[in-house]
Amino acid sequence: MTWIEVNTYEEMSKVAAEIFFKQIQNKPNSILGLATGGSPVGMYKELIAQYQAGHLTFKDIQTFNLDEYVGLDQTSPASYWTFMHDNLFNFIDIQPQNIHLPNGKAEDLAAECVAYDASIEAAGGIDLQLLGIGVNGHIAFNEPGTPFDSMTNIVALTESTRTENAIYFDDPSEVPTHAITMGIQSIMKAKEIVLIAFGEKKLDAIEKLKSGNITEDFPASQLLTHPHVTVIYGGTK
Ligand code: GLP
Repeated sequence: MTWIEVNTYEEMSKVAAEIFFKQIQNKPNSILGLATGGSPVGMYKELIAQYQAGHLTFKDIQTFNLDEYVGLDQTSPASYWTFMHDNLFNFIDIQPQNIHLPNGKAEDLAAECVAYDASIEAAGGIDLQLLGIGVNGHIAFNEPGTPFDSMTNIVALTESTRTENAIYFDDPSEVPTHAITMGIQSIMKAKEIVLIAFGEKKLDAIEKLKSGNITEDFPASQLLTHPHVTVIYGGTK
């Protein structure tokens, strides 16, 4: 695991964007794994700026997002589909058919989970996966206690995660109780992973990860067994 400590959120975003920039330059038809939340917004802005400056094209890029809420319409303001379009996809030349998010409104959610993993495999697997981290160490929506060998599945969200994510909803009671998420094993299959975390809130989680203790009670710790992970982090108490 490579650790890069940064001083500001902007610096974190630039360092992460540089890794994605190089990936896209080296392999213009890369398969990218993308994440939602506050952490990646700055990185997405950097990539949009590079695209607008003519340094980058996404025309042959495919993306797979980590997760989506169960029960929200794709176009709901709080869906991850909307988040990704508002923060990245609407501003770059990615082809709509190359954008993939799990469908949290699928009639058969179990079948949707299997199909999502299969579509990642069929695309050739994820070349570069972006991750944030929850304060309880969750990655995507894999909460503490999730088996390390989990593939895409339906999960119940913990109260802590629902509270953290309530800012994206008009009322905390509207935060869905379940989500469809790539599993820890689906994430671990990525060839390379970049985890970003900035701010006081995330320090404990980063410290725990640094301690090197691998346990299902702290989902991100499985990343310690992956051969190519970069953690870009910063912030002080
Ligand atoms: C949500 C997402 C995660 C994300 C986490 C942290 O729970 N499902 O993928 O990493 O929030 O989000 P933020 O970057 O806003 O702190």
